[in-house]
Amino acid sequence: MRIAVAGGAGYIGSVLIPILLEHGYEVDCYDLLWFGNHLPEEVNVFCQDLFDCTVDQLANYEQVIFLAGLSNDPMAEFSPAMNFIHNGALPSYLAYTAKKAGVRRFVYASSCSVYGYTVGKLYDENCPVTCGYPYGISKLQGERGVMQLCDEGFSTIALRQGTVCGYSPRMRFDLIINTMYKCAMCDGQITVNNPAIWRPIIDVRDTAMAFLRAVQADYSISGVFNVAWDNFTVGDLGSTVAQAVHRLTGRQVKVHVKHQHDFRNYKVSCRRAATVLGFHPRHDVEDIVESLHARREEYGDFSRDEYYNIVTFRKLLAPRLRVAA
Ligand SMILES: NC(=O)c1ccc[n+]([C@@H]2O[C@H](COP(=O)([O-])OP(=O)(O)OC[C@H]3O[C@@H](n4cnc5c(N)ncnc54)[C@H](O)[C@@H]3O)[C@@H](O)[C@H]2O)c1
Repeated sequence: MRIAVAGGAGYIGSVLIPILLEHGYEVDCYDLLWFGNHLPEEVNVFCQDLFDCTVDQLANYEQVIFLAGLSNDPMAEFSPAMNFIHNGALPSYLAYTAKKAGVRRFVYASSCSVYGYTVGKLYDENCPVTCGYPYGISKLQGERGVMQLCDEGFSTIALRQGTVCGYSPRMRFDLIINTMYKCAMCDGQITVNNPAIWRPIIDVRDTAMAFLRAVQADYSISGVFNVAWDNFTVGDLGSTVAQAVHRLTGRQVKVHVKHQHDFRNYKVSCRRAATVLGFHPRHDVEDIVESLHARREEYGDFSRDEYYNIVTFRKLLAPRLRVAA
């Protein structure tokens, strides 16, 4: 089977594409390469804006996986307009074009941030979504644009991922556990802004397996699925990462607690992904920290701009902003 991975040169795609190749799929990647290209040489990489993808191009594929757009809150808040275009309109455009081209399935990288600020309850896919911030709203728009195209000939699957963490050949240190690990290694201290709020967490190797399960699922299956290893308070995450770094390096790591307001707070149930897709994550928080520690020679200096999406994004947009001024 031939698969197009849109935004496949990013953090998740750089782990997922080698796994798809191992499973015998032929994979092409379409990506603007904002963060470079760390994919295996045998992958055809088309450096193009996904808005320029045509029906003729997508007619070559049985499935399309969407991993593009602006992938965190700081990017979304830096340019809300670009955020709504790339996260809301782009997935809808690409799914519409894919359906016209005869593609059988579209898999969309959604996010648990659509749940917003919730209290107490474990949220499943039928619960209301209450996000009021640009990233969450736009991910929900993208999801809805894709999902409403579903019919007998066109399967659509949206994976609402928890915060993805761990090592990828295209590294990010702006994701919660990765940031905590970096701070523990560089400063001997982890700052927790709000210890009481909840986040679902998933290792990037597991999220890649969730996409593989979506690709492998029978074409009669469509739907929205939460995917995460488990739910943690941010305070517990800070202590667990501090202990894991202590075990791996012998250094004492302090956890500095602040009490700032957060507009995201949610814990999710992943039962549907387990029963319908057969998705069973394997890696816990300690595994995530171990993977970061084991690969530290490969990413080297923590301070490189491309490890922080907002830093790279500001540089990308700077020429446009100068023209506008
Ligand atoms: N990383 C997480 O914790 C997380 C959690 C939930 C959901 N997601 C979603 O998963 C997807 C992938 O996340 P990631 O961490 O790999 O992001 P990433 O920022 O590492 O990668 C995104 C890729 O998309 C490309 N891109 C963006 N707009 C494009 C366009 N118009 N045309 C072509 N290429 C374009 C970029 O060049 C980049 O390589 C995103 O949609 C994100 O919103 C990520």
